[in-house]
Amino acid sequence: MRYSNMTILLHWLGAGLIFLTFGIGAWGLVPTPNTAHKLPLLWLHMGLGLSLLVLTALRLMLRARRGGPRLKRPTRTAARPGRPQPWLTRLAQPVQNLLYAATPLMALSGLGLAWQAGYGQDLRALPADFYAFSLRAAHGTFSSLLAALIVLHLLTWAYYQFIRGENALAWMWFRKPKKDEHE
Ligand code: HEM
Repeated sequence: MRYSNMTILLHWLGAGLIFLTFGIGAWGLVPTPNTAHKLPLLWLHMGLGLSLLVLTALRLMLRARRGGPRLKRPTRTAARPGRPQPWLTRLAQPVQNLLYAATPLMALSGLGLAWQAGYGQDLRALPADFYAFSLRAAHGTFSSLLAALIVLHLLTWAYYQFIRGENALAWMWFRKPKKDEHE
């Protein structure tokens, strides 16, 4: 699989941002009482979530302009006639597509929740309970869906990397473009 260096950069930037935003949400915001101390963490979470929205839009634009990854040569992972593909590898592509959808859904539901909670008028607003707003449940549900998709994505990578011995990490790592290739 051949990805451009720009696609690879955006992939790792997105992965880092998702882990950070998710971690701050689940383990930082949820257990913290709604006092003024929570505001900086909340702003950080919102800022990171919004930058993820921009990054996902950039990735989708890049994909629409350049198309998906090119298959350089048939790999050992390619389907062999008469041999069923394991469910994990059959799920790989739909999981990737759903990841592209789940990230903006998270960010947009978060943005809507922030609007419902009054951050559109006052950035220091702090409701007694975020669950009073309809989008809090949606944001929480999407976060569970996103977590499940990330686990499946990592399992697929681990399957290729350790069971099929394909060095799948190298597909998503930087390399010097060859003379006859352009990025
Ligand atoms: C892809 C981006 C995002 C991810 C992965 C994410 C993740 C999370 C997670 C995991 C939680 C805790 C959910 C739970 O356990 O029920 C949460 C809560 C929250 N998020 Fe996000 N979020 C994102 C974007 C945003 C954005 C853009 C905003 C606002 C502009 C936002 C505002 C909030 C708020 C207000 C809460 C509730 C905090 C609380 O209940 O104390 N999020 N988020």
